[in-house]
Amino acid sequence: ETNSICFRLLLLLMAVVSIDAQNESSLSKSLTNVILFCGEDHAFTTTLNLRLHGNQMDEDELYQVAETCQYTAWASREIVCDHNYMEVSVKRAAPHDYVLPNHLIPSKRPVEAGFRITTLVFFTPEERIMEVKEALNRGYGIANTPSRLVLRSPKTTPETYIQNVAGVPMTVLKTSTIFEKKWLAVQIDATAACPLVEGSVSVSSNTIAWYLPWHIDPLISSKQFKLLEVHMGINGQRITTAEMAARQYSLIVSSTHIVIKIPIGAVGGYLKSNVQDNQYFTSYTVEPMVELHWIEDTTHEDTRYKVLFPITTPFLPQPLQVIDETVPNKQIFKLILGPFGTDVALINITFPSEVLSVAECNVRGFNVMELMSPNSSSKVFILQVPFMDPVVLQMTQNGFTLYRLQLTFGLLVLPELAPLSHTAHLEAKLVNIAPPKVFGGCDHQNFYVLVEHGRRSFQTMVGKQMLTPDLGQKYGFMDNGTHFSLVVPFSAPDVVFEAIEQASIRGRIDVIMRNPETNTEIKKFSMACNFHSTLTVCFPNGTMTALAVKLEAVPSLNTSRLTLRDPTCGPLFSNDRFAYFIFSGNTCGTTRKFLSNVMLYENEISLPDESDKSDESDESERKNESEEPVLKVSCYYDINTIHTLAFRTKPLMNQPYAENGKGELQVAMRLALDKSYSLFYREEDYPISKYLQQPLYFEVELMRSRNPKVSLELENCWATLKEDRMSQPRWNLIIDGCANKVHPYQVVFHPVWVDARVENPSHFKRFEVQMFSFDDKETLSPQVLFVHCDAVICDARNPLGGVCNKKCPSKNNEIRGQRQALSHVSSGLINLTQ
Ligand SMILES: *[C@@H]1O[C@H](CO)[C@@H](O)[C@H](O)[C@H]1NC(C)=O
Ligand SMILES: *[C@@H]1O[C@H](CO)[C@@H](O)[C@H](O)[C@H]1NC(C)=O
Ligand SMILES: *[C@@H]1O[C@H](CO)[C@@H](O)[C@H](O)[C@H]1NC(C)=O
Ligand SMILES: *[C@@H]1O[C@H](CO)[C@@H](O)[C@H](O)[C@H]1NC(C)=O
Ligand SMILES: *[C@@H]1O[C@H](CO)[C@@H](O)[C@H](O)[C@H]1NC(C)=O
Ligand SMILES: *[C@@H]1O[C@H](CO)[C@@H](O)[C@H](O)[C@H]1NC(C)=O
Ligand SMILES: *[C@@H]1O[C@H](CO)[C@@H](O)[C@H](O)[C@H]1NC(C)=O
Repeated sequence: ETNSICFRLLLLLMAVVSIDAQNESSLSKSLTNVILFCGEDHAFTTTLNLRLHGNQMDEDELYQVAETCQYTAWASREIVCDHNYMEVSVKRAAPHDYVLPNHLIPSKRPVEAGFRITTLVFFTPEERIMEVKEALNRGYGIANTPSRLVLRSPKTTPETYIQNVAGVPMTVLKTSTIFEKKWLAVQIDATAACPLVEGSVSVSSNTIAWYLPWHIDPLISSKQFKLLEVHMGINGQRITTAEMAARQYSLIVSSTHIVIKIPIGAVGGYLKSNVQDNQYFTSYTVEPMVELHWIEDTTHEDTRYKVLFPITTPFLPQPLQVIDETVPNKQIFKLILGPFGTDVALINITFPSEVLSVAECNVRGFNVMELMSPNSSSKVFILQVPFMDPVVLQMTQNGFTLYRLQLTFGLLVLPELAPLSHTAHLEAKLVNIAPPKVFGGCDHQNFYVLVEHGRRSFQTMVGKQMLTPDLGQKYGFMDNGTHFSLVVPFSAPDVVFEAIEQASIRGRIDVIMRNPETNTEIKKFSMACNFHSTLTVCFPNGTMTALAVKLEAVPSLNTSRLTLRDPTCGPLFSNDRFAYFIFSGNTCGTTRKFLSNVMLYENEISLPDESDKSDESDESERKNESEEPVLKVSCYYDINTIHTLAFRTKPLMNQPYAENGKGELQVAMRLALDKSYSLFYREEDYPISKYLQQPLYFEVELMRSRNPKVSLELENCWATLKEDRMSQPRWNLIIDGCANKVHPYQVVFHPVWVDARVENPSHFKRFEVQMFSFDDKETLSPQVLFVHCDAVICDARNPLGGVCNKKCPSKNNEIRGQRQALSHVSSGLINLTQ
């Protein structure tokens, strides 16, 4: 209480300390000792001794906090108007201040040591004299320091009076303080004047205007007067002109007044909310400050004048607004509700079908947000509701869809917990856009996609990729304004493989159109086609190749880990979609089987069995993966039949892996198209149809032999009606290597010459017989036949008789050599066309 400046410092310090402490109440109770020291009115030291108790430890903790502040800019007079008191501090003349005789300036005589304040004289304007003791009891503050006298008074007391200054009522404290020492007395005058709110503030619907006279008559004795500084502040702190502009405050110095204008709700103040009849009201409180500094020419005495001026508007209705920021194309309602004071909380939102708390709204994706307004002390609530949410009503009318949102906000004003509700209706219209139409087709190597987009814009995904101009170029993108087309090769990475079928792969292309704004699918188009693909190729020289493809159903398959049966035979090449293998019949665990007419080479492509490895974690997955071979590779090589089987391979000419002594001959029979024996019927050509007496050209070949010393001989050939070679009836064509003379259409043998296909003519036999019909009543129609032969191999070096050295009467056959082995071959079904 001794010095107002020190007092304010103390309060400031206390505030700082309190904020730092965790438990405010225990701290303020334990502020046991405060020492305030004001040295020479220039430096002010505040020392706090703090005792913190309330810890588990028995002993209190003691702290000392000291802070020193400087204040040297003392004006001759300093006046402070706070919201409930006024204070004036005047300079006391020091002994060296005055050189003139004391009696010429009686009131400015230095008050030396030994003088003490005895009496206060108030002018109301009548004189009222009061003892110091009584003044202290009445709530006045009186203090003197070596250089200053400080007086403080409540704003309105019987000893103050009200004076109208330039239309503004001001409360005036006018005093003389008497210092006495024995019979000597010294008097110091001090006057303060502070504006009253009533009469100096006008509140319009959106602005507060505060008028402060700057020529405050009770404080100024002469006409010669100069205003040196004018500052504005808020909450006791000066602010810069830039800050003022940002907050839209204005300060104008007119000929009579300083006019401060503050928009209601501006930053720096706060809004207090109130609810009456579900109507929302706010009052705005702001505490502007004005600091003036002036000097009087005649006396050269300056005054610093500071007014802290809290202004509170009455409660004004604050109409709530719902700003609809919905952009229909984004398919989401966006609305802003406000403005509110910071003391309002959003509790729930009521939709026609349900009530959701704010937390529930956020779980639902409504994204409720509270946003402080950047240039005011109010806030708004923001909400987004997708059109597709069930709380939105939809109505489809011709050509467009209408979306309706009705909602009631449940709000609470704190701390009174006064409820407030606000209802809003929103509507948005969206023109119905027919989804694009997609057409597609395939040929043997490409997918063709045609999209009728009708100038609508959307994002297109091909497989998992966005259709960018780059990708479009790859896929032959063409757009004529209403349609665009794509050609996607079967082998493109965006094609997924669905299944492997006999000699073909089923590939699928997915084309998806999306709305980039809502990220929703507009149209999905899928097309699957079978593409002929020889996954396995069997080369005549015994080389086999296989292509393993990764199917969509096995996305985790790592193709580079695939192997043939021999786990050391990995792919020659692999990527994330394919693995390509090359092997031959006697490598990589390939097995060989002699079937009745063909030799079958088989291998399998699969993941190696790693179940014995210690990696237990994904063992089950591995087992599952390796259960089934990814691809079974089979190569059939013709042996004993004119059928040409799988993958249309040519017969095996070179024989890298034939084993002697197996006791079985590989002999093939085929039917040529004509006498030239250059083209032959294939497997799929059977059954073959022939007219009666049309010639049939047969060729029988010994396969897998490069030995020119051996020859193939036909022992017996005959025709049957059934596939079974031993069936009856039977018609003999060749008997013991010679044509059956009994047959009406006799067999004619044809010589064999070396050509591109024939290396050793002795390994071939060719004969011709005309298509005939069994003369049998039981088999009238349809007439069919099968032709069968028993073939033998003869060794020229070791003739032993039999067919090998038999000579037919019509033919000049030589000695053939030793009969080595017997083999049987049959033709396919031959139809007699009537
Ligand atoms: C703060 O301290 C007071 C007095 O020691 C005690 O009553 C109060 O419970 C404390 N509060 C907290 C939050 O610890
Ligand atoms: C805040 O700024 C907006 C736009 O800049 C303006 O329309 C509004 O009046 C300002 N509000 C206040 C309280 O200054
Ligand atoms: C919604 O919140 C308001 C508070 O503003 C409350 O009065 C009302 O009862 C709440 N409604 C429901 C259904 O919880
Ligand atoms: C664009 O191409 C589509 C399909 O080829 C065709 O039907 C349509 O008429 C074409 N439009 C124009 C404007 O050329
Ligand atoms: C077998 O034939 C294929 C195709 O003609 C050829 O690429 C390959 O090199 C040949 N392999 C051998 C071992 O001759
Ligand atoms: C596939 O397996 C190989 C060899 O084990 C490995 O190097 C590669 O990282 C694997 N790739 C993937 C995609 O797992
Ligand atoms: C094997 O995988 C298939 C498809 O990935 C799955 O459907 C099946 O349940 C799996 N079997 C086992 C035994 O894990």
